[in-house]
Amino acid sequence: MPATNGAPDRHPDTHFGFRTVGLDAKQAMVDDVFDKVAPRYDLMNDLMSGGLHRIWKDILVTAVNPPRNARPFAVLDVAGGTGDVALRIAEAGGAATRVTVCDINEEMLAIGRQRAARRGLDRNVTFTAGNAENLPFGDRGYDAGTIAFGIRNVPRIEAALAEFHRMLRPGGRFLCLEFSTVDVPGLDALYDFYSFNVIPALGRAVAGDAEAYRYLVESIRRFPRPQAFADMIAAAGFRRVNWRVLTGGVVALHSGWRL
Ligand SMILES: C[S@@+](CC[C@H](N)C(=O)[O-])C[C@H]1O[C@@H](n2cnc3c(N)ncnc32)[C@H](O)[C@@H]1O
Repeated sequence: MPATNGAPDRHPDTHFGFRTVGLDAKQAMVDDVFDKVAPRYDLMNDLMSGGLHRIWKDILVTAVNPPRNARPFAVLDVAGGTGDVALRIAEAGGAATRVTVCDINEEMLAIGRQRAARRGLDRNVTFTAGNAENLPFGDRGYDAGTIAFGIRNVPRIEAALAEFHRMLRPGGRFLCLEFSTVDVPGLDALYDFYSFNVIPALGRAVAGDAEAYRYLVESIRRFPRPQAFADMIAAAGFRRVNWRVLTGGVVALHSGWRL
């Protein structure tokens, strides 16, 4: 945590991709990345993953398991960006399923609001600006908390996990979809080649920005391995912490319960 009382800060740095930067500098750089890519964000996800991100998100939605009946069910989707996960949860759930998207970036939220309105889901899905490290919501208000491809962008991951724990009701579930570590021999080399060559080139061609997508790849490589991330979730107070890897470890889905 940063020093607040003039004491020397012993952990002032984090990483922006492979670069060591201050915690606040990282957030500013991440914001800049998503300001730039927001208009092409959803298209780029399809192109980069060959559509696989849709399958990964559907697996997340199945795990959230929103009720199909009229039972009220409240979900908070943090770093929810253009609402891709929130809209899927709202479509899978009943009429009383409500999803709040919270994201730090207004450009991403603006696109999300338009998408929700176009699909007639703007009563079920609402969009709020806020920082994952300090969520602008009261305690224990949600049945599920989700974050997809967002946590590695947050400078103070422990603070974000503590916030999820605070805002879930007892019996509520935390679910995190994030890029992980490919350990399958052969697939790892292919994945490295694709990540460091194809993705930045796609970023340049489609979103006009190779650097933003180089950051994406580097930040994936720096993210903790599944067991280490599970330990962080448990340290935030979650119980029965679990994970499953998808697509040979390209992605992991972690979960934990607030009991
Ligand atoms: C890769 S996008 C993921 C968007 C969406 N969850 C999805 O899966 O399509 C990462 C998102 O994290 C958001 N973000 C980065 N830092 C954040 C923070 N500290 N608090 C909230 N959102 C943050 C970015 O603005 C961006 O919209």
